[in-house]
Amino acid sequence: MGTPFQFQEWITAHSEHTESALDRLLDSAQVTPQRLHEAMRYAAQGGGKRIRPLLVYAAGELGDQSSQEKNAALDAAAVAIECIHAYSLVHDDLPCMDDDDLRRGRPTVHKAFDEATALLVGDALQTRAFEILATAQCDMNNRLHMISVLAAASGSRGMAGGQAIDLESVGKKLDLAGLQQMHAMKTGALLSCAVELGGIAADLNANQLAQLQKYSKALGLAFQIVDDVLDATADSQTLGKTAGKDAANDKPTYVTLMGLDYAQKQAKELQETAISSLDGFGDQAQALKDLALLVVNRGK
Ligand code: IPE
Ligand code: IPE
Ligand code: MG
Ligand code: MG
Ligand code: MG
Repeated sequence: MGTPFQFQEWITAHSEHTESALDRLLDSAQVTPQRLHEAMRYAAQGGGKRIRPLLVYAAGELGDQSSQEKNAALDAAAVAIECIHAYSLVHDDLPCMDDDDLRRGRPTVHKAFDEATALLVGDALQTRAFEILATAQCDMNNRLHMISVLAAASGSRGMAGGQAIDLESVGKKLDLAGLQQMHAMKTGALLSCAVELGGIAADLNANQLAQLQKYSKALGLAFQIVDDVLDATADSQTLGKTAGKDAANDKPTYVTLMGLDYAQKQAKELQETAISSLDGFGDQAQALKDLALLVVNRGK
């Protein structure tokens, strides 16, 4: 019998590993232009649950044992996707988008610095993400594959496209299919991408990657439903961001359109779908299963 999987220890180890990889791969605030580099570090470091990097590492547990190339691919993927995510938050908080003052328990980047800097932080974190992947010391085919899935998930058919739908939908009543599509794009795309990046680093085959997509699709939607629920039910201090912002900005969400009960039931169902879709992977999928539980039950 092997040692039972200790999720808390796994989270601590991989969160610490993510923090040090971010520290290593982001430019120092001493490098010119200092203020931009300082703001990029401010946006990417100092808080955040690091769910996307954790998903990269959890999917990386599948497949072969660790090797230097696999570890290099996982670290590059973990930092790259967190850079894209951090950029998406900086832009999401701008006055022309959600107009938020608080993020990860601190003033948003445009408040702590200024709007033009916040815009450039997003631009520069995005390109740094791709530079990190392009220069990763790993198999060239895996590198290209990772670059193309991250680009697709970040762009107009993924996160940025979902944000466009979100802004177009202010004050409108989306139907359930429209709401699901918006959530799948603005949030689900990057979460699915995190899982796929880990799977690519682990050299999974096309069938296994397709199986993983069932997990990530369910998890991605569940994640944004829970974000909508917490916006309506938790306080700003717990969230580290302004509570009640969706209703204040007249955003269509699972809570405003479908009601709190439906949203909570739906998140739970999606959690079960995500976990059961991993059955074929055996014990190596335990970290992914536990992350699905964590995502849906956070804030409880
Ligand atoms: C917030 O993401 C934005 C959404 C996509 C809902 P997270 O809840 O992962 O934010 P951090 O990284 O922990 O701050
Ligand atoms: C944002 O969704 C999704 C992103 C792509 C950043 P939200 O606008 O609900 O995220 P929060 O609640 O501000 O973190
Ligand atoms: Mg938003
Ligand atoms: Mg927002
Ligand atoms: Mg939200």
